[in-house]
Amino acid sequence: TFAQNQVIINGDLGKTTINKHIYGHFAEHLGRCVYGGFYVGENNTKIPNKNGVRTDVIEALKKMKIPNLRWPGGCFADTYHWKDGIGPKKQRPSMVNAWWGGVTEDNSFGTHDFLDMCEQLGTEPYLAGNVGSGTVKELSDWVQYVNHEGVSPMANLRKENGRDKPWNVHFWGVGNEAWGCGGNMKAEYYANIYRQYATFMSDWSNTSKLFRIASGANSADFNWTEILMRDIPHNMLDGLALHHYSVIDWNKKGPAVNYDEDLYFKTMKQALLMDELIHKHATIMDKYDPKKKVALVVDEWGGWYEVEPGTNPGFLYQQNTMRDAMIAGTTLNIFHKYSDRVRMANLAQTINVLQAVILTNEEKMLLTPTYHVLEMYNVHQDATMLPVDVQTADYTFGNEKLPALSVSASRDKNGVTHISLVNIDPSKSQEISLNLRGMKASGVTGRILTSAKVQDHNTFESPDKVKPAAFKGASIKGDNLKVTLPPISVVVLELK
Ligand code: AHR
Repeated sequence: TFAQNQVIINGDLGKTTINKHIYGHFAEHLGRCVYGGFYVGENNTKIPNKNGVRTDVIEALKKMKIPNLRWPGGCFADTYHWKDGIGPKKQRPSMVNAWWGGVTEDNSFGTHDFLDMCEQLGTEPYLAGNVGSGTVKELSDWVQYVNHEGVSPMANLRKENGRDKPWNVHFWGVGNEAWGCGGNMKAEYYANIYRQYATFMSDWSNTSKLFRIASGANSADFNWTEILMRDIPHNMLDGLALHHYSVIDWNKKGPAVNYDEDLYFKTMKQALLMDELIHKHATIMDKYDPKKKVALVVDEWGGWYEVEPGTNPGFLYQQNTMRDAMIAGTTLNIFHKYSDRVRMANLAQTINVLQAVILTNEEKMLLTPTYHVLEMYNVHQDATMLPVDVQTADYTFGNEKLPALSVSASRDKNGVTHISLVNIDPSKSQEISLNLRGMKASGVTGRILTSAKVQDHNTFESPDKVKPAAFKGASIKGDNLKVTLPPISVVVLELK
C-alpha cells in the first residue's frame, strides 16, 4: 500500500541549476567559532594546525564541500574595523566584542588569516562590510586592499604585509541586519546608504566583478524587501539577503537536546516556514526584477536554542541533534525548489555556534548530524534541479499537522540523478511510490542518516553515534521507485 506518499520526479523538466553557493557557511567572531574553533593560534603545539588553523577542521570541511564562507559577522561585522586586523600580530590593537559576551579580542585573526584560510579550504570568501559604524572610505579601502592588483595605497600596504597577489574577493555584504544590530535603520534610509556605499565599492580586480549583497529582511518583514527592490538600482545590487532562524520563541527558545515532541513540532514548523517566506519575498522581487537578476541570499539560517547549561550565554554554543538534521534536509530541499531565485545561502554557524556542523573541545572534534546531511547532499551542488511533485502524508501532533515528507531531485554534470528525501515524523515510517518520468534508471543505491530518537546526537565520548550508513530501503521496477523511510531520517539516493 503506497497510497499516501506519491511523488513524481520530472526527469525531462530540469531548467535551473542548484547553485553550489546555497551550501555556504558562516563564521562570525562569536563565542568559539573563530577563536578556539577554526583558529587555535600558530604557537599551538597540542592541536595540529597550519598557520594557526586546525587541520582536522580544514579536512572535514573540504570533505563536506564548502563553497563559500561568510566572515566576520553577523552583528560583529558592523563593529569591525579591518585595519586593526592586519600587520604584525603583536602590534595589532585589541577590541571588545560588544555583541557577543563582551570579550576582548586581540585581532590575531584578521583579513590575511581569513582569506589564506579560505584558500586552504578551497572556498570563496564572502566578506561582510561594516556599514553601521564604519565609513565609506573604510569599506572601499578594504576592497582595494584585497582586490587591487596594481599600484595603489592599499595594494602596497597588502604587499608590505606579505601578500603580493590580490585575493579577488567576489562576494561582499554591504552591512548586516541594518534594521537591527547593524544600525537600527529604516528601510528607506538603508536603501540610500546602500547606494552610497555600493558606489564606492569599486571593482579593483580585472578578473571578477564584485557581487554586492544588501542587508536583507528579517523573516517575514516583506516591506523591507519591497523598499530595497524599489529604491536600489539593480545594476548595483547583485544579491538581497534574508535571515530566518528556526526559533520557537525568542524569549524561551527551549533546550538543544532535552526537548519534548511539542518543541520538536514547533521547531519544524518554523523551519518549514522557510518555503512560504521565500515564496513571498521572491514574489515581491519578481515584481521589480522579473528576469531574476538579483539573487535572494539566505545568508543566515538554522536552528537557534538555549545555550548548553553552564556555558556563556553570549557564546551561543548549542548541541546538535537529529532535529537539526531534519531542519538541514528540509531547508536545503526548499532552497533547491527556488533555485531560480535563491542562489546563495549560509548556515549559521560553522563551528561551536548555533546549528554548527563541527563542535570542538580542545584537541577533540566531532561532526554533527547537520554536517552529515550537508556532506550527503553535496551531490546536488551545481546540478540541474529536477522539479518534483509531492503528495505527502501528514505528521500530526495534537491538532496540528505538517507535511511528513520533503523531496528534491537533481541531475549532475555526468547525467547521474540524485534524490534527497526527509521524513520528519518521529514515530511513523513512510512508504513512498516515486514515478520516474522522463528518464531512464535501472538501479538505485543510497545512504541514510537516522537514529532511534530525535534527540540523539554525537558527543566527544561517542562521536559516531549518528552517522550515515548504506541504505537498503529502495527498489526500482520499470519507472517506479519504491522507498521506505524510517522515522526521522534523511536519505540520498543515486539512480543508475
Ligand atoms: O548568527 C548570530 C547572529 O544572528 C548574527 O550575528 C546576526 O546577524 C543575527 O541576528
